[in-house]
Amino acid sequence: MLQEDIFKKLTAHCKEYGFIFQSSEIYDGLSAVYDYGQYGVELKNNIKKYWWDAMVLLNDDIVGLDSAIFMHPDVWKASGHVDAFNDPLIDNRDSKKRYRADVLIEEFLEKLSEKINKEVAKAARRFGEEFDEAMFRKTNARILDLNQRLESVRMRFVEASEKGDLDGIRQLIIDCEIADPVSGSRNWTEVRQFNLMFDTRVGSVSEDANTIYLRPETAQGIFVNFMNVQKSGRMKLPFGIAQIGKAFRNEIVARQFIFRMREFEQMEMQFFIRPGEEKQWYEYWKDKRMKWHKALGFSESKYRFHDHVKLAHYADAATDIEFDFPFGFKEVEGIHSRTDYDLSQHQKFCGKKLQYFDNELNKSYVPYVVETSIGLDRMFLTVLAASWKEEKITKANGQEDERVVLQLPPLLAPVKLAVFPLVKKDGLPEISQKIRDDLRFDFACQYEEKDSIGRRYRRQDAIGTPFCITIDHQTREDETVTIRYRDTMEQERVPVGKLREIISEKVSIKKVLEKLY
Ligand code: GAP
Repeated sequence: MLQEDIFKKLTAHCKEYGFIFQSSEIYDGLSAVYDYGQYGVELKNNIKKYWWDAMVLLNDDIVGLDSAIFMHPDVWKASGHVDAFNDPLIDNRDSKKRYRADVLIEEFLEKLSEKINKEVAKAARRFGEEFDEAMFRKTNARILDLNQRLESVRMRFVEASEKGDLDGIRQLIIDCEIADPVSGSRNWTEVRQFNLMFDTRVGSVSEDANTIYLRPETAQGIFVNFMNVQKSGRMKLPFGIAQIGKAFRNEIVARQFIFRMREFEQMEMQFFIRPGEEKQWYEYWKDKRMKWHKALGFSESKYRFHDHVKLAHYADAATDIEFDFPFGFKEVEGIHSRTDYDLSQHQKFCGKKLQYFDNELNKSYVPYVVETSIGLDRMFLTVLAASWKEEKITKANGQEDERVVLQLPPLLAPVKLAVFPLVKKDGLPEISQKIRDDLRFDFACQYEEKDSIGRRYRRQDAIGTPFCITIDHQTREDETVTIRYRDTMEQERVPVGKLREIISEKVSIKKVLEKLY
């Protein structure tokens, strides 16, 4: 099946099964804003817990914070967002579609690099065991040509971006013959800067009111609280502050479902360190964060690092953890070495010292920061994309059938187990409810008695429930039940008394967190 079709099906699945709804759908929706439904909110909470526990619970030197969305307007002048949080936009005159000019160029670079990799793969197949990839890359004329092209476009892009040269960016789009992905037209307008922050006014009288912004990142709430947390918690460097919260960006191009939203959630951690130690901590957090993703058990080939060509105004090194979405490898998380940029800027703008006295060095300084910043909604999408499967199966009676199953890591599943009486009589519902009532303190449980067992299984498969328990007449005799495993569809007869132990072992967050510790 085409990746595009998979993505369409996944999006439809989210609505059909109560994971995600378009915001204000009954009013025809609001673009790039989404609501999380009954299963979506549970999955989202489980992802948050996995992140929070990995950051705050497992690290003595990381503490949490929940700062307000509204902040003093000077915060955003100091942080550089008022002047520099812009995207260069370009319109296509024929299709009337609007694009981010930098994204058009990045996608062009990506295509060139894919071309190179395809050539290498082709040669590897042709030459078999004797293939020397390094030598081939160094000597093959076509590869050298493509590499040279890639480097020259990259250099021009970096130079134009760093200078804020919008004409230069446009010229690059023209020179690379980049066409509108929808219409194929190359009839482009000028490139213009567009600030991504939403503003509003505080106070009831608009003339006197101040313009304030909806925060475009949660990080600044952490920076402005650096001294509060450090002093009240008597924190010693290095230490981190972690926060989960909403962020808002007036994205020019809102596409790909919850990948790029105008209201979204971030899970950010700022790690405050001694100046000079930034490289070492940058590498440390790169490694730690990649392990966190991989510990969920999806295929390792779905993740890669992508170092930034164009650095944000605050960073001296930055990389993305990219995930192989149905629409290609894209950023899920950023790891940024932010130097002392933010604290120094706030120090300058607020006129107060934001420094740390280092007993060992016997001096005060503005700490450096390495940040890890992951979009919760994007993380949600990676989990769904990696878990969603359409399978052909053979039923117990030998008939062919199909099922859609979400093979969610059990610790993230919205419902951990569903309890079914085989029939709605003979006391089986009462026994089932008693079992559910006993287990609901430990796990998110569901009780279902409607429809055939097969249909009940399908519904639970579709929301990713890892275990279904069926209570039948034998249960009344020997206190055993069948447990059915979502991924293998195998069934096993087990004593009721063992259910808690079996399920705990499989859904345990501890087992996954231990891999990170
Ligand atoms: N504090 C640093 C920062 O905000 P960023 O790379 O702009 O860095 C971090 O954003 C993460 O936030 C991204 O990796 C992405 O997962 C998520 N994110 C950013 N913009 C988003 C949007 N419009 N919709 C959904 N997630 C977004």
